[in-house]
This record gives sequence, C-alpha cells and structure tokens, in this order.
Amino acid sequence: MPVIAATASQQAARATANDFKIPPEYRDWKLISVAILGSPFNDIRAKLGNNLAIGAFREAKIPFPDGAMIARLAWKQVQSEVNNNAFRQDPSAEHLSPAALQKLLNTSFGAGPPTNVQFMIKDSKKYPSTGGWGFFQFTNGRPNHVVQSNCFACHAPGRATDFVFTLYSP
Ligand code: HEC
Repeated sequence: MPVIAATASQQAARATANDFKIPPEYRDWKLISVAILGSPFNDIRAKLGNNLAIGAFREAKIPFPDGAMIARLAWKQVQSEVNNNAFRQDPSAEHLSPAALQKLLNTSFGAGPPTNVQFMIKDSKKYPSTGGWGFFQFTNGRPNHVVQSNCFACHAPGRATDFVFTLYSP
C-alpha cells in the first residue's frame, strides 16, 4: 500500500477524535433499530439516538441537525440455556421435529459481553471533511484510535440518508 500523507483535514479529524468523551447518558438514549452481523463477528447490535437524532428519524428530516448523536452498541451472540429450556417447553414448539427444535435452539441467541461502542456525532462545522459527522469508538469505556476518514469512507455511499445506514424501526 502506498503511504499517503494525511491531509490537513484528516489530521484535524484525528486530533478531534481525542477530544470526544462518551456522553454519560448515552445508555438512556432511545432505540432506533437493531441488527445482527454474522460470522466471523457474530454480534447483536442496537442503535440508540439522543433526542435530536430520534426527532429527525421520526420526522424523516435529512440532514440530521447539529447535536444529533447516534450510538451503535454491540454484544457477542451467546446461547442461553435458560431461554432454550423455555423454548423446549413452549407448546408452539410441539409440532417441531426434534431436529427442527434443535435447529431453533442452535440459532437462538441473546446478548453476551459487549464488543465496542461506536458513535456518530453531527457537528457540521467541526467535521466538514467527513460529511459533518465525527466518528468515534470505545472498548470497555476507553477510546480506540480511529481514523475518521476510514469510517467515513464506508459510510460515504449513504449520502442520500446523510451517511446513516440504519433506518428507524417503528
Ligand atoms: C466496512 C464499512 C463500515 C466501516 C468501515 C464503518 N462502518 Fe459504521 N456502519 C456500517 C454499516 C453497514 C452500518 C449499519 C449496520 C450496522 O450497524 O452494522 C453502520 C452503522 C454505524 C452506526 C449507526 C448509524 C448508521 O449509520 O447506521 C454508527 C454510529 C457507526 N456505524 C459508526 C462507525 C464508526 C465510528 C466507524 C469507524 C470506527 C465505522 N462506523 C466504520 C458500515 C461501516
């Protein structure tokens, strides 16, 4: 890979990454939607938004206003014996063959340990080179070094929805 010198805006984006602190109340934000990612990640994801983000989603207002914040939480998929025992006793599973029941149990998961939390923070003045969004990631509450332009490169095709992929699930 050729080494390409970071542009001034990339350097600025890197510097701002260190300024950002996890919003302490983010775990109380409202649910936008959920997703699962298959092998090799095998995780379960929830997207939460602060009030400004949720308002924009519900009113289908694009672009998102400055101050909108979206968090992507993720946990490892884990099987739960407690859940599976309950499913085994569920009368609606009675018509399933043993093989079909086993398949249901093998593909049923709950949220296990957290992997990381990613944030998109809308501030069109601060992050003009990445669509007006700051991109951040934390593992166990500690910031990961993130090159914002790498995050943005993958989100860039989502221009029509202001670089946000997740759709609001009613
Ligand atoms: C390879 C492509 C790719 C890269 C690189 C990427 N993302 Fe995403 N991101 C996605 C996709 C696809 C979704 C929607 C599904 C999901 O949550 O996995 C998403 C969802 C998100 C969301 C929820 C809002 C939305 O757009 O749906 C946030 C927040 C987010 N990413 C932050 C980041 C951060 C921070 C980085 C860099 C550390 C990053 N992303 C890098 C593809 C990418």
